[in-house]
Amino acid sequence: MNKPRKLAAGNWKMNGTLAALAELDALLEEGDRDCEVLICPPATLIHPAVARIAGGGIAVGGQDCHAAESGAHTGDLSAAQLADVGADYVIVGHSERRTDHAEDDGAVSAKAAAAHKAGLTAIVCVGETEAQRDSGETLDVIARQLAGSVPEGATAGNTVIAYEPVWAIGTGRTPTTDQIAEVHAALRNALVARFADGAGFRLLYGGSVKPSNAAEIFAIANVDGALVGGASLKAADFGPIVAALDAVG
Ligand code: 13P
Repeated sequence: MNKPRKLAAGNWKMNGTLAALAELDALLEEGDRDCEVLICPPATLIHPAVARIAGGGIAVGGQDCHAAESGAHTGDLSAAQLADVGADYVIVGHSERRTDHAEDDGAVSAKAAAAHKAGLTAIVCVGETEAQRDSGETLDVIARQLAGSVPEGATAGNTVIAYEPVWAIGTGRTPTTDQIAEVHAALRNALVARFADGAGFRLLYGGSVKPSNAAEIFAIANVDGALVGGASLKAADFGPIVAALDAVG
């Protein structure tokens, strides 16, 4: 089985208007890479981003989807609607969704299943809070979230796991390399135990990834890329992170 390419994913969160698409031009100018590059802009920019990239080697994804295909869900978007405008990926279960919208593991699993049905690759996020880490619960929390948030039918082709410690998101703080390695090894073991192709799932690290720490993080075993927030907003920051991932091969 060929493992999918490493993945440098940018999550723009609720940032950016049409003017921000100029950053895509700058990323495209850097040319082709060995790793896959993904931008998940706000929903308003998905279609214009796809048009702007015009098949130029950057994938586009959503930041969330509803579990239903259509219906009376004001303000929500279905996975099929994301796919319709050219998205290939969707992030589900980001800690900001889990907190702001009270999404639990069951809801996240249903969203991931909806993504699969629409032909999208789901990026399923897991991660402990600082209090959970301090009380030694990290591996239990991660195991529980992974088991509950990844649906049956997940494969290395349609699912990516992102480990994002809540306390590292947007704080400038990152776990030690040993802490990241420990969680990623636990994720890998759990996936191998549950799925025939568990060894092939890509595992991303997310939380304060920057040009200055990317190479060190990408050298850790079982880290197959990154989910980057703030440093994905500017090509001047995201470009070097992509280059660092390419450099590990
Ligand atoms: P930062 O890179 O801004 O810490 O955000 C990480 C994140 O939440 C990506 O989904």
